[in-house]
Amino acid sequence: MEKKTRKQAMKELSLMLIYLTRFQDHNEFCKYLENSWKGYDFDTLEELEQEELLYQPKKSKCVYLSEEGKEKARQLLAEYNLADKDILEKFEFRNIEHSEIRQAVAIEQICFPPNEACSEKSMIERTEAAQELFLVAVDKETGKIAGFLNGIATDEYRFRDEFFTDAGLHNPEGKNVMLLGLDVLPEYRRQGLGRELVYQYLRREREKSRREVVLTCLKSKVKMYKKFGFMDRGIANSTWGGEEWHEMSCTLGW
Ligand SMILES: CC(C)(COP(=O)(O)OP(=O)(O)OC[C@H]1O[C@@H](n2cnc3c(N)ncnc32)[C@H](O)[C@@H]1OP(=O)(O)O)[C@@H](O)C(=O)NCCC(=O)NCCS
Repeated sequence: MEKKTRKQAMKELSLMLIYLTRFQDHNEFCKYLENSWKGYDFDTLEELEQEELLYQPKKSKCVYLSEEGKEKARQLLAEYNLADKDILEKFEFRNIEHSEIRQAVAIEQICFPPNEACSEKSMIERTEAAQELFLVAVDKETGKIAGFLNGIATDEYRFRDEFFTDAGLHNPEGKNVMLLGLDVLPEYRRQGLGRELVYQYLRREREKSRREVVLTCLKSKVKMYKKFGFMDRGIANSTWGGEEWHEMSCTLGW
C-alpha cells in the first residue's frame, strides 16, 4: 500500500477516533444525536468540516459527524480492519430492497396481532412509494432482516389512519414524517436494536431537514418512546384495529 502523508494520516485517524468515541447526547430533547469531544488538531477539524464530514457548532466543546462523515469513518475502519460498535458489527442498516418485501410482511405478522398488522398490499405499496423511509437492520450473519422502521413523509402535522393504508399520501418533500411500523423479531429483542433503528432514523431525517416525526402507539409503549425522545400528545385521532392510541412526536428542527 502506498504510504499516506502525515496530513492524510491525521485526517483519517482523527475521523476514525471522532467516530469511535461518539456518544449519545443526554440532552432531554435530542437523545438521538451523537457527538464527540473536540480535542483534535484545529486545522484537521477545519478540513473535515470543509468536506462536510462534521460540524463544529460555535462555542461548543463538541463536534457532530454528518451521515457522510460516519460513512467515510466506517469505510476507513474497514480499510484498516478495525472493529465498530457491536450493534453495527452485527447488523447492516440500510433502506429496504424490493426483494425483501416478503420478509418484511412476514415480520409484521409476527410482531403485530392481525387487527394491527400492515397488510401485504400496503407494505408493497409503501415500499414502492417511500423506499428511502424504510430502514432495515439486516443480520450480517444470516443476510436476513432482523427489524425495521418505516414511514411516509407529509406536510400534515397530525396522524390519521389513512397514512397506514394510502401510500399515495407520501410526499418526498414533506416537512414531517409519519412513522408506520417499528418491528424487531422476538429473537433480536432487548439488545438495543429497536432504539438503534429509531435513533438512526431520526438522525437521517434530521439531515434531510425534516421537522417532526409523528407516530401512534398503545399506552404500554408511551414510556419506551419517551425514552427515545418523543413527547406524548395525548389520545390520537385513530381507531386503527379498534384500539385506543396515543399520538407522539419528536421535533428534529424548525
Ligand atoms: C417494541 C420493540 C420494537 C422493541 O424492540 P427492542 O429491540 O427489544 O427494543 P430495545 O432493546 O432497543 O429497547 C429500548 C427500550 O425500550 C424498552 N422496551 C423494549 N421493549 C418494550 C416493550 N415491549 N414494552 C415497553 N418497553 C419496551 C426497553 O426497556 C428499552 O429501554 P432501556 O434501554 O431503558 O431498558 C419490539 O419489542 C417489537 O417489535 N415489538 C412488537 C411490535 C411493537 O410493539 N412495535 C412498536 C409499536 S408502536
